Amino acid sequence: MPLRLAIFVSGTGSNARMIIDRFRERPEAGVEVALVVSNKPGAGALAMATERGIPTLVLQRKSFYETEDLLAQLEHFGVNFIVLAGFLWLIPSYLVRAFPRRMLNVHPALLPAYGGKGMYGIHVHRAVKAAGDPESGMTIHYVNEHYDEGDIVYQAAVRLDPDDSPEDIAARVLRLEHANYWRVIARIAEGELGVESDV
Ligand code: GRF
Repeated sequence: MPLRLAIFVSGTGSNARMIIDRFRERPEAGVEVALVVSNKPGAGALAMATERGIPTLVLQRKSFYETEDLLAQLEHFGVNFIVLAGFLWLIPSYLVRAFPRRMLNVHPALLPAYGGKGMYGIHVHRAVKAAGDPESGMTIHYVNEHYDEGDIVYQAAVRLDPDDSPEDIAARVLRLEHANYWRVIARIAEGELGVESDV
């Protein structure tokens, strides 16, 4: 099933960039990034997308949470799958319902540990460091109405060195995300990982 993605971002967008570039190199994968969406007008990810000729959309909080106007915009761009990549707003239920098992998120830890509200970015890695965990990793999961709680699709772990700082852990985990996020999307497009039930 060809996927037309909207990637939702709040920050740098290094995962978004990786997904865009990997699929541009592989047209046979049947995955096209149709739109990059952000809640932050200044997000670096928007400039990155524009440089690559990909349309962008900036969300207004009131419209995002109080109307369903976004659905028509996604339809306009032919979007049939959503990828969250460092998107920090909670997804409203109308959007979850419109994309059942058709919306993925990547989280920089091995869920269910270190997930939930407030567990994002460096906060996650500081908590991992404080716990003295011997490993961390990344989790790709479907999105429901709760932060970091949808069904897990894929996880990858990395061993930590006791001397690793939270920033070192962040860098190790981000490398895992870059290596794996686009591959998981490719497997979904190939039908190897289900978008309906067979996870
Ligand atoms: C990643 O670590 C991801 O796990 C988290 O936010 C970060 C986004 O980084 N959800 P980037 O914007 O893709 O560089």
